[in-house]
Amino acid sequence: MKLVGVSATLAGNKTSQAVHDVLAAATLIDSSIHTELIDLREYEVEFCRGEPLTYYNDDTWNVVKKILDADFVVFGTPIYQASISGVLKNLLDFFPEYAFKNKVTGIIVTGASEKHFLVPENHLKPVLSYLRGLVPSTNVFVHNDFFDVESDEIINDKIAKRIHHLAEEMIFLQRSIIERMRD
Ligand SMILES: Cc1cc2nc3c(=O)[nH]c(=O)nc-3n(C[C@H](O)[C@H](O)[C@H](O)COP(=O)(O)O)c2cc1C
Repeated sequence: MKLVGVSATLAGNKTSQAVHDVLAAATLIDSSIHTELIDLREYEVEFCRGEPLTYYNDDTWNVVKKILDADFVVFGTPIYQASISGVLKNLLDFFPEYAFKNKVTGIIVTGASEKHFLVPENHLKPVLSYLRGLVPSTNVFVHNDFFDVESDEIINDKIAKRIHHLAEEMIFLQRSIIERMRD
């Protein structure tokens, strides 16, 4: 199975670290899982203009294709203005309505205010569900205080455990979907 992680920030390192940790937890649980981290800082994804994908640059095409080709996906976003990042919403605008059918779509977010811990539940889950992604019951909010100031590594044991649970649930759900499709 291939698990792709998307880090949807163009700014700091926290989101990519959080997504990286989900991918690392997944390979720890099952070493046969292939992972890839798509850090959107490394791609020039264009603004979605509602045109067919062939009208966009190679980076846009590649990012969308990598996500469509994955068995399952974890989306990471910082909270921006009490919502998801604009780059994540823009990326999601490229996908057709059934893009995530039979795919588990996990969520991990970073933020500076714990008051916004339900933002992914209210702003991201509906979009992923609209695209037919199966969103796990575990989602992870990582407050900025839980990152090491120097290295941006996650230094809180409870968060590390939640990340492990998220990876575990995603693998369980994705395996179940694949088995059901085989029947
Ligand atoms: C433009 C902007 C808006 C933000 N708005 C919020 C917000 O509404 N709520 C919150 O909890 N954090 C907010 N933050 C803080 C970021 O979510 C937080 O610092 C995050 O960990 C940054 O992730 P990154 O290092 O991966 O870029 C905002 C940051 C920026 C730059």
